[in-house]
Amino acid sequence: MHYAAYSGFQRLTECFNDALEKHKNIVLQAGSLQDPVGDFETSVANSLKQSPPVLECRFLYDARGSSLYEQITKQPEYYPTRTEAAILQKNAAEISTLTGPCTLIELGSGSSIKTDYLLSAYQSRYTNICYTPIDISANALKDAGRSIIQQRPQVQVVGIHGTYADSFPLIRCASPSLIIFLGSTIGNFTPEEERIFWSDIAQNMQVGDHFLLGVDLVKDTEILDAAYNDKKGVTAQFTRNYFVRMNRELLSAIDLDKIAHVAFFNPAREQMEIYIEFLSDQTITLPALQQSFSFTRGERIMLEISRKFRLNKVMENLSSYGLHPLRTYTDEQDWFGLLLLEKQE
Ligand code: AVI
Repeated sequence: MHYAAYSGFQRLTECFNDALEKHKNIVLQAGSLQDPVGDFETSVANSLKQSPPVLECRFLYDARGSSLYEQITKQPEYYPTRTEAAILQKNAAEISTLTGPCTLIELGSGSSIKTDYLLSAYQSRYTNICYTPIDISANALKDAGRSIIQQRPQVQVVGIHGTYADSFPLIRCASPSLIIFLGSTIGNFTPEEERIFWSDIAQNMQVGDHFLLGVDLVKDTEILDAAYNDKKGVTAQFTRNYFVRMNRELLSAIDLDKIAHVAFFNPAREQMEIYIEFLSDQTITLPALQQSFSFTRGERIMLEISRKFRLNKVMENLSSYGLHPLRTYTDEQDWFGLLLLEKQE
């Protein structure tokens, strides 16, 4: 797997097209991730200034965070991954028939395990399959790329190490495409972030392109609460790792024994809310910026929301962006939904 860094969007698009033509397996690094520690520091400083403080959840996914998330997906209480995987396994063949041959672009691909059902379905119907995973974790991209190349040597992999926003203009030149956004990651966006996301996506998709969206559905509070408070404590470690990263990269001197993971369902907003709570008074320092932030015992910092959806509302919302549902798949318990959408005029 080659790795090439590009600054400047024009270059990235050119290299993407070049790689497609030459059938090269490659990871292209977008310019937006060139100063990860600086970006993290600015984001933390801005977040801690807010009242109430809300950290940006994308920084949960450093190498350790990505690997902890993989472990979360295997916990018995965390039903979304296995439920979505089963829906995909059952319906991948139909999805590949409905879209026809196209470039497969996956946003936030992580380890890409679920995608294998799709790759298998597309490979059994079509030739020259190109798979473009996009992720902010370089390690996850390289590992996934390597394993796909090994298992499916006929598939061309052009990975993008970057943010979702980096990929939007590439979507335009990759048409016809199927954009894949699984795991209900859309639920980690605020409603405002989601609005911007769909408007950018819809502007760059061509008529006839497809979108495959996984959404976690509203269900009993106990099931939701258990999924984000697994008995083994992996989710708690995942939350805590944000502060481990702050101490390592930003020298923030947080006493990690005096913070606790708190996660619960907020029924009014139909979302899981994930916080750390201070178990004693603490001051977080950012020495490079000469800033410090004091918190008292019992105060909380929000790290993540995970919104839960109702299928009819999702479909209504997406229709307003010209994205119309071709098929809606769910599991027997209606816990998770998979929508195949088509861009229309
Ligand atoms: C990545 N995302 C969809 C997960 C979720 O369920 O919202 C992240 C997660 N956070 C804690 N557990 C899982």
